Amino acid sequence: MARKAVCCGLSSLELLFMVLFLLMTGITVGLITVLAINLNSHTQEPEEPTPSVKPPENPYLIGVGRADCTGPVGDVPLMGYANLEQIAGGIHTRLFSRAFIVDDSSRRVVFVSAEIGMVSQRLRLEVLKELELKYGDLYRQDNVVLSGTHTHSGLAGYFQYTLFMITSKGYIKPSIQAIVNGIVKSIDLAHRNMRPGRIFMNKGELLDNTRNRSPHSYMNNPEEERKRYKYDTDKQVVTLKFTDLDGDGMGMLSSFAVHSVSMHETNQMVSSDNLGYAAYLFEQDKNTGSLSGKGPFVAAMASANSGDVSPNTRGPYCINTGERCDYLNSSCPIGGNEMCLAFGPGKDMFESTRIIGENIYRKTKELYSSAEQELHGSVYAAHQWVNMTDVTVQLNSTHSAKTCKPALGHSFAAGTTDGGGALNFTQASVEGDPFWDGIRDALVGVPSQETQDCHVPKPILFNTGEMNWPFPWHPAIVDVQIITIGSLAIVAVPGEVTTMSGRRIREAVKQELETQNAFTNTEVVVAGLCNVYTHYITTYEEYQVQRYEAASTIYGPHTLSAYIQHFRGLARAIAQGNVGELPKGPEPPFFSKLFSLLPDPPVDRKPENTTFGQVLQQVDPLYKVGGVASVTFVAGNPRNSGDMRDKTFITVEKFHNTTSTWDIVHTDASWETRFHWMKGSGGQSNATVDWHIPLSAQPGTYRIRHFGHFKQRNIITSVITSYEGTSEVFRVTKSLYSI
Ligand SMILES: *[C@@H]1O[C@H](CO)[C@@H](O)[C@H](O)[C@H]1NC(C)=O
Ligand SMILES: *[C@@H]1O[C@H](CO)[C@@H](O)[C@H](O)[C@H]1NC(C)=O
Ligand SMILES: *[C@@H]1O[C@H](CO)[C@@H](O)[C@H](O)[C@H]1NC(C)=O
Ligand SMILES: *[C@@H]1O[C@H](CO)[C@@H](O)[C@H](O)[C@H]1NC(C)=O
Ligand SMILES: *[C@@H]1O[C@H](CO)[C@@H](O)[C@H](O)[C@H]1NC(C)=O
Ligand SMILES: *[C@@H]1O[C@H](CO)[C@@H](O)[C@H](O)[C@H]1NC(C)=O
Ligand SMILES: *[C@@H]1O[C@H](CO)[C@@H](O)[C@H](O)[C@H]1NC(C)=O
Repeated sequence: MARKAVCCGLSSLELLFMVLFLLMTGITVGLITVLAINLNSHTQEPEEPTPSVKPPENPYLIGVGRADCTGPVGDVPLMGYANLEQIAGGIHTRLFSRAFIVDDSSRRVVFVSAEIGMVSQRLRLEVLKELELKYGDLYRQDNVVLSGTHTHSGLAGYFQYTLFMITSKGYIKPSIQAIVNGIVKSIDLAHRNMRPGRIFMNKGELLDNTRNRSPHSYMNNPEEERKRYKYDTDKQVVTLKFTDLDGDGMGMLSSFAVHSVSMHETNQMVSSDNLGYAAYLFEQDKNTGSLSGKGPFVAAMASANSGDVSPNTRGPYCINTGERCDYLNSSCPIGGNEMCLAFGPGKDMFESTRIIGENIYRKTKELYSSAEQELHGSVYAAHQWVNMTDVTVQLNSTHSAKTCKPALGHSFAAGTTDGGGALNFTQASVEGDPFWDGIRDALVGVPSQETQDCHVPKPILFNTGEMNWPFPWHPAIVDVQIITIGSLAIVAVPGEVTTMSGRRIREAVKQELETQNAFTNTEVVVAGLCNVYTHYITTYEEYQVQRYEAASTIYGPHTLSAYIQHFRGLARAIAQGNVGELPKGPEPPFFSKLFSLLPDPPVDRKPENTTFGQVLQQVDPLYKVGGVASVTFVAGNPRNSGDMRDKTFITVEKFHNTTSTWDIVHTDASWETRFHWMKGSGGQSNATVDWHIPLSAQPGTYRIRHFGHFKQRNIITSVITSYEGTSEVFRVTKSLYSI
């Protein structure tokens, strides 16, 4: 099937139609890390005998927490590919927010990794409001970092800028509420279980699981710079091990640069993708006997400088002819750009997700087990809001340059080899197209000369910085932030940085910290998709090529330099101990009356003579391990079940012979189960539960159950009623012949 949308952006035709739709139908608004290793203590004023220096034997206070942040798994678009046909229909794996709090007894920092496409400004503002209500000024914009794993199978609907709202069907309250509540709950849990502990760090390389998806752009970076690195993506895995004072593990936080897009845009089930599966395996391993990893041990896999890093390791091919795609522009001789897609390493997306996830898990487990380098010293946080449309970048002693009002280039609509775009857009295009430019001009107006000049050589497709109806289309105010834990610093980047951009940021921050003698042996890692989404950040040289990532570098050619300038400022403030003197910067807006284009779920209907929860398609009486048990129920719309965080739509249960009870062995959070909700016509729907029976499954007697709610209308109001359905009992054996 031909793909019609783009990875991490918004597709072209759909977008144009949505614009048309919005404009024509007159929808009313009312409806509407850097990781730094410092073997010495971190001192604020190195000259003085510093009372603020913590002796290494002082433990940190550490808290870890995990909470479900899965929103409504029906009707809501999935966030990432911006494919309007990729609408949620069930659960592959649940989405979790994982929080880590570290306190040095005078200050504390919080790092949250949430299994969502990216953190949006709106989401962050709502989380910070909740935290303020609960904790006063304990958890603030400067000491809380929120990072997304970049799964493209999380739910949309949590944005306040128009461009993102269009493919989200607007602002969807139940969707953002689930993420806000999940993030805040993960922080609550971490807050409540804080206790003295230690942090160890380890590093290693994981090869063969990633490849650069824009090598042509990468190769445009200076040769001397490229020669310093062995690979065109960062292979390093950085792992933090959190233990209590007895040495018992509390948590693990790792960073690895990979796009969480092993699940393709043909998937409709909510999924935490490759990084999520790695975290899940780690938690299952540590929380022995737990259901789908739930337990006191929290393991998170955070995103890094993964902007140009694909997990689809077989690389791009023309899916129609099997040829190699064009190296420069990723287009195919027949069918153009849409036909060029990357897959692998597995035979399908589930297997690819499993393989990449398992490999990341194995590597982090190895690093965790052998982590010995302990972090010591104070905790710092530095944060600013920056008007990114208005940064003057000092290039050298004589020249300066400016960032631009946001705009997306033509190649943005071409998408990537992880999710092809539509129509005849091509990556690496530095010239506009009179046809599309004409449509753009007619719909949204001609970009100003100033904006066009500022973005050169990017041909502008959407001049989002000049589009303000009904709300601004892109943010101007963004967060820049660095937190440090002793020698360790995490740089929170508000977007997707490419490999080389990430390296430059790390190097700049390392240099800035070390010139002040406050840090030595500084090791640096970047956390991506933090705090507010601003698409991509390429190097100036990559920008000149105008592949997808460059066309999506919205503040123009000097975007990276502007960020580096600000991150240097934050690092300097930390090193000099004057974080408090940093100007706060302009506060981001909080728009009211955001529109929603998602109607309430309709009344649920069922086929004649059936009941909700009744089995439409029964299980087989007998399965062998390695097989797939499958059952289909008459279902209601999952949105009618309301907030299902920490609950489940399905269970797989095993009969316990001696006690005559049914024990739950899997839920909808389990990797082994797939809950497909299929929406039919006229309010009818059904739910198929597949259980991929693992080879390790115990032989015995099993059943599958489904829980849901259906909506009916009486004269005055609608009524929600719960239902459940149970499959027939079936047996599972190791071999079909030895029952
Ligand atoms: C892509 O680049 C090749 C040259 O490498 C060129 O022949 C081809 O026309 C380009 N395709 C498009 C759609 O621009
Ligand atoms: C950002 O800077 C631009 C250019 O100076 C200015 O027009 C705009 O009002 C600023 N935006 C905000 C939200 O402060
Ligand atoms: C400063 O940068 C500009 C623009 O890149 C360049 O033309 C100029 O030669 C540089 N000057 C110095 C002194 O490096
Ligand atoms: C893209 O398609 C439009 C409409 O068919 C056409 O006018 C335009 O020339 C095409 N552009 C390219 C680069 O092929
Ligand atoms: C529903 O049940 C009634 C009464 O048993 C029967 O007459 C009718 O044919 C059934 N309808 C369907 C579609 O099975
Ligand atoms: C329960 O165990 C007994 C004795 O081991 C056995 O005879 C019986 O078949 C088992 N029943 C089921 C449902 O597995
Ligand atoms: C479930 O619903 C889908 C969509 O309406 C339909 O195609 C399918 O046949 C249904 N399955 C069963 C077993 O009724």
